[in-house]
Amino acid sequence: MKVLITGGGGFIGSNVADGLLEKGYEVVIVDDLSNGKEENIPEGSKFYRFDVRDSKLSSIFKEEKPDIVIHKAAQLSVRVSVEDPLLDAGINIMGGLNVINQCKENNVKKIIFASSGGTVYGEQKHFPADEDHPTGPISPYGVAKLTTENYLYYFYKTYGLKYIALRYANIYGPRQDPYGEAGVVAIFSSKFLDNESPTINGDGLQTRDYVYVGDVVDANLKAIESDFVGSVNIGTCKETDVMGLFNIIKEESGNASIEEIHGPAQKGEQRRSLLSFELAKKELGWEPKVSIEEGLRLTYRWFSKVKV
Ligand SMILES: NC(=O)c1ccc[n+]([C@@H]2O[C@H](COP(=O)([O-])OP(=O)(O)OC[C@H]3O[C@@H](n4cnc5c(N)ncnc54)[C@H](O)[C@@H]3O)[C@@H](O)[C@H]2O)c1
Repeated sequence: MKVLITGGGGFIGSNVADGLLEKGYEVVIVDDLSNGKEENIPEGSKFYRFDVRDSKLSSIFKEEKPDIVIHKAAQLSVRVSVEDPLLDAGINIMGGLNVINQCKENNVKKIIFASSGGTVYGEQKHFPADEDHPTGPISPYGVAKLTTENYLYYFYKTYGLKYIALRYANIYGPRQDPYGEAGVVAIFSSKFLDNESPTINGDGLQTRDYVYVGDVVDANLKAIESDFVGSVNIGTCKETDVMGLFNIIKEESGNASIEEIHGPAQKGEQRRSLLSFELAKKELGWEPKVSIEEGLRLTYRWFSKVKV
């Protein structure tokens, strides 16, 4: 079976591509490398350096005839989406729509979309959020993710294009960009390895639901096999605050001299985020397996290897 992954040169996409190749799938990657890296493209996959907004995307679909499409290409900075909502919508809405439309035109069996449980619900009204929690994104990035889900629903209802929108919590692990403004685990790990104190925004008591990327690979593999259609959370239903992350990474680093330094709180930052994974368990047979302690250890060790 052939799987086309957009954004397969990035953090999550390249880990998923590795997982697919291991399972014997044929893998085609479409990525413009605006944030991904050529070295992430796994051997054994076919690679097109291409922008998902380009109307000539149709020629790749016609040539490759994928059975399944995993759409992960995106502008992933919430801050950039606030500063330039048109740029964000161009990539995250129009790019997504171009991919969905090509799936419909070329009889793709299913599209799996990387949505965001951390942003589509907005400031959560109850904890954990299940998929029936009201949506109310408070950033253009979240609006774009929800809009793409709505297009997927429309294409399913109108043309029968099957889809699963995986509403990811906060994903961390090997290959995450340590230089962006998101990805606190990657940023902290990298700083510890440079013998520098990372800056903790505000009091560091803001919480997120952190999922190890290996568990996300598993969720994508299970989504390919499932008959479920719709949106499903991929989270651990466990909250960890930034101070907790700092302390676990500090212990793993064995570097007691790194001090706890606090900067100003990020304006408009969500205080808490926590997702239920009951639906993923029921419909995909998925549940997270890697604890935060184990995941942070694996991630820190990976960063320490690539830094030398
Ligand atoms: N990392 C997280 O915690 C998280 C959480 C929720 C959702 N997501 C979603 O998961 C997906 C993957 O995120 P990631 O963390 O791996 O980010 P990433 O930046 O590492 O991967 C995104 C990839 O898309 C590519 N890309 C960007 N614009 C493109 C375009 N116009 N055409 C073709 N390729 C393009 C980039 O080069 C990059 O390789 C994204 O859709 C993101 O919004 C991530």
